[in-house]
Amino acid sequence: MLYNRLIMNHDLVSLLRCPRCRDSLSISGTDTAGSCTQLECAACRASYPVVDGVPRLHVQEYVASFGRQWNRYDVVRDDEDEAVFRVKTGVDPRDLVGKLVLDAGCGGGRYALLAARQGARIVGLDLSDAVNRAGKLCAPYPEALVVQADLLDPPLVEDAFDLVFSIGVLHHSPDPRRAFDAIARRVKPGGRLAVWLYRRNSLPQEWLNSALRAVTTRLPARVLEPACVALGVLGSIPILKKSLNKVINFSNHPDWTLRVCDNFDWYAPRHQSHHTERELLDWFEGAGFADLRVLPPAHSGKLYDWAFGRNLIIGSGVNVTGTRRS
Ligand SMILES: C[S@@+](CC[C@H](N)C(=O)[O-])C[C@H]1O[C@@H](n2cnc3c(N)ncnc32)[C@H](O)[C@@H]1O
Repeated sequence: MLYNRLIMNHDLVSLLRCPRCRDSLSISGTDTAGSCTQLECAACRASYPVVDGVPRLHVQEYVASFGRQWNRYDVVRDDEDEAVFRVKTGVDPRDLVGKLVLDAGCGGGRYALLAARQGARIVGLDLSDAVNRAGKLCAPYPEALVVQADLLDPPLVEDAFDLVFSIGVLHHSPDPRRAFDAIARRVKPGGRLAVWLYRRNSLPQEWLNSALRAVTTRLPARVLEPACVALGVLGSIPILKKSLNKVINFSNHPDWTLRVCDNFDWYAPRHQSHHTERELLDWFEGAGFADLRVLPPAHSGKLYDWAFGRNLIIGSGVNVTGTRRS
């Protein structure tokens, strides 16, 4: 199989650490085609399966909805992905050539794919089965490695990456600050970190959203998915798509698949926290980052700027980038 070729990624495998004892991992099993099937820790001898080229170092049930979502919806849109990457990382993709990059929470792999295409050496890490999709997308790129693991305790060498980016991820972990500190430590001194998190909205919006999600996160996917399709229809109705979605969240993306996927992405995940700019800036400062920049949103316009400034746009972000002090 095309994507079962981890054996070519020795350099990237050398960045991995044993989740139990933090020693290095090496390839200890291959199939008849020479593809890696297992990694083993040199010190504690723990072994980890490699399935379809993806080392499976940690699995958690609370991200199951993401596995379903990213394997079900095909959301790769090259032009849009590049535009979003630029806006949410502050990085020109052309500057990624030869850089060691970590996509912290790669989901189905759209941004890891972009980095791989640009010639980066990219590790995409995600806790959910979304790695199945990401692994396939990145398979043609020998300098890409997708890993199933936990950002709360990333099985990766510290102080190593030129760029770590995390787009829409940390607010889905039970402890976003801890996850932030963990990925921040993977940036090398002088390297960059870019993080995008959901913005905290006005109190009434937060209350209503919490009440809705208290229900939706308990629904089985076979019930929630049709509801997300119905919200997808609302998101296509001109009068509603820029008004009602300030009260309850639904996507107004022009692309149907992305709209339904966005809705599921909002209402299904177990954990979802919202943050302020000040909070995220404090995290960067606390982790030893300088040269901090608050990145502006992709959209603008008089009405949008007014609502964004008052934290009224549900699903919008707080977005900061900074350089790790040497
Ligand atoms: C909204 S998705 C974003 C995916 C990707 N960054 C993108 O924008 O396409 C959030 C991702 O974070 C992952 N995630 C949540 N908690 C995680 C954790 N503790 N460790 C690793 N990944 C995690 C989920 O599995 C999910 O794929």
